Amino acid sequence: MEQKIAELRAAAQAEIAGAADLKALDGVRVKFLGKKGRLTELLRGMNQVNAEDRPKIGKVVNEARAEIEQLLADKNSALKAQALQDKLASEKIDVTLPGRKIHRGHLHPLTLTLNRIKEIFIQMGYSVEEGPEVETDYFNFEALNLPKDHPARDAQDSFYITEEILLRTQTSPVQARVMQKNTGNAPIRMIAPGRVYRRDEFDASHSPAFNQCEGLVIDKGITFSDLIGTLDFFCKQFFGEKTNIRLRPSFFPFTSISAEVDISCPICHGASDTCKVCHGSGWLEILGAGEVHPHVLEMSGYDSSVVSGFAFGLGVERVCMIKYAIDDLRLFFENDVRFLNQF
Ligand code: DAH
Repeated sequence: MEQKIAELRAAAQAEIAGAADLKALDGVRVKFLGKKGRLTELLRGMNQVNAEDRPKIGKVVNEARAEIEQLLADKNSALKAQALQDKLASEKIDVTLPGRKIHRGHLHPLTLTLNRIKEIFIQMGYSVEEGPEVETDYFNFEALNLPKDHPARDAQDSFYITEEILLRTQTSPVQARVMQKNTGNAPIRMIAPGRVYRRDEFDASHSPAFNQCEGLVIDKGITFSDLIGTLDFFCKQFFGEKTNIRLRPSFFPFTSISAEVDISCPICHGASDTCKVCHGSGWLEILGAGEVHPHVLEMSGYDSSVVSGFAFGLGVERVCMIKYAIDDLRLFFENDVRFLNQF
């Protein structure tokens, strides 16, 4: 009997030591200590042992059980520690690796330009207004002193949806919309940026869809010199302090005194015959402007004997191209990241 116990002890020791994981170890436990385990079976054989030997043998059996239990518990802790160790090793992260770069998008150059334009006028107290891109003939032309058969309509070849509805050819209709929304001779100081459409070629300097920013100021005592001062301030803010403006006489049906406004070339300041932006002329046209025509005021409910105003319409792509020396308008619409990443 003692011999058997010694063998069983040795076998249990070896198997516990050799258990590769917790599951195998539990198998060993069942094999030796379980209900049908080897030690249990040995105990069942105790009745064949002499009565006087029983206490001695019983002691040896108990010692064997205690030892096996202890070995199982130790091995269990060792395997658990090992499992944790393995888990930590397999999930190790290298905190010294550089982080993954997140590619942030950014605003399109035209959006940046529009934002800057808005910023400059907002600081002068202007509101920012909107009008529909699908516009009525009335607001796009008639309310701006361009009746149906007016020859100046020819300059703005339009996309008509019906006889009376078209894609707006200019942001000027927002002038009439805002005036008609107001009552009495309420002062107006607004800009209206937005997209406009004309039946144009799509080439380096034309696009059938482009952006304008309209401006309108109406109040008592507004004069042409207010217009000049405002545009001069805007251009200096937008293109730089050294920028000057130049006005050339022009014609627009909705302004009584009309001008086309040029800026001195912000790239070469008129100093280079080979300047890619102004081509040596030193001046660049950026907008049309004028004193609001009395008839336009009257048509939209203002009393032209009490108030006066000025208006202007700025080409957004144009000022953006000048500012960043971009030589092809199509770049704005092609979504080429090599171009867009530069802003
Ligand atoms: N709407 C004109 C155009 O698209 C630009 C313009 C000229 C707007 C003079 C104005 C203005 O408000 O006063 O050509």
